[in-house]
Amino acid sequence: MTTPTLTLAGKVAVVSGASRGIGRAIAELFAREGATVVICGRKQETLLQAAAEMKDCAGRVYPLACHVGRARDIQHLVDTAHREFGEIDILVNNAATNIAQEPVLQVDEAKFDKMIEVNLKSAFRFIQAVAPGMCQRGSGSIINIASIAGLRPQVHGMLYSMTKAALIMMTQSYALELGPRGVRVNAIAPGLVQTVLSEYFWKDEEKLRQVIETQPIKHLGQPHEIAEVALLLAGDRGSYLTGQTLVVDGGRLLP
Ligand SMILES: NC(=O)c1ccc[n+]([C@@H]2O[C@H](COP(=O)([O-])OP(=O)(O)OC[C@H]3O[C@@H](n4cnc5c(N)ncnc54)[C@H](OP(=O)(O)O)[C@@H]3O)[C@@H](O)[C@H]2O)c1
Repeated sequence: MTTPTLTLAGKVAVVSGASRGIGRAIAELFAREGATVVICGRKQETLLQAAAEMKDCAGRVYPLACHVGRARDIQHLVDTAHREFGEIDILVNNAATNIAQEPVLQVDEAKFDKMIEVNLKSAFRFIQAVAPGMCQRGSGSIINIASIAGLRPQVHGMLYSMTKAALIMMTQSYALELGPRGVRVNAIAPGLVQTVLSEYFWKDEEKLRQVIETQPIKHLGQPHEIAEVALLLAGDRGSYLTGQTLVVDGGRLLP
């Protein structure tokens, strides 16, 4: 019997916001597929715990605290990853926050700036730090986790939607310029997925019922269902995909 080849054997990946939720599921799947995965989040303890839970994966999981709203934290993470593991093959910009669910006229500048810093500028900073190495080697895959909120506005969700819409355009712009240098850049736009970030929504039985009633796929999305798509984009099976935003929402945007 032949052993199946691991899709990401020998690859080095960085996944931001990987102590729980979607980022955690992506990190685990990548590690199962043989990648060395640097995971970040703001708290070292939760990262250590997550890494310990993934210790049986084929690839190594390396926890490193990093607040993605801080330029120096990002540079430190990228420098450490380079020093410990060499060049980065896969970057997943996943960490994000949603601090301001409120009417547009109540949104203040401090929240505006924070949402830009954490949800958008973080991806820019990571890509600027990691992509030159990818270009030099002529290969790499960058995956930005956007949202269907970036494709359609939601009541009281202006800041979140705005950052995700900009992330989608950032994805296309990088894809256009980095494609000829061997680097693919794609986004995933999840619909409702059962995580801490979205619990204000899915824990409300009425809201959840409405979503499940209207979307064609009749279950609440799970983090591993997003991770499978990230795996496609990360590895060679996605070699002809760039600049795309793959909507993974159980068909919620269809009606
Ligand atoms: N869940 C959904 O329904 C849904 C739908 C569409 C899109 N998304 C997107 O999917 C991505 C993951 O969301 P999720 O639902 O998995 O969220 P989650 O369960 O809240 O997890 C967020 C992760 O990001 C980390 N994080 C938060 N702020 C951070 C910061 N400033 N610096 C570094 N790490 C930070 C958190 O760890 P610490 O708190 O320890 O820092 C955690 O590991 C996000 O981009 C989100 O916008 C989610």
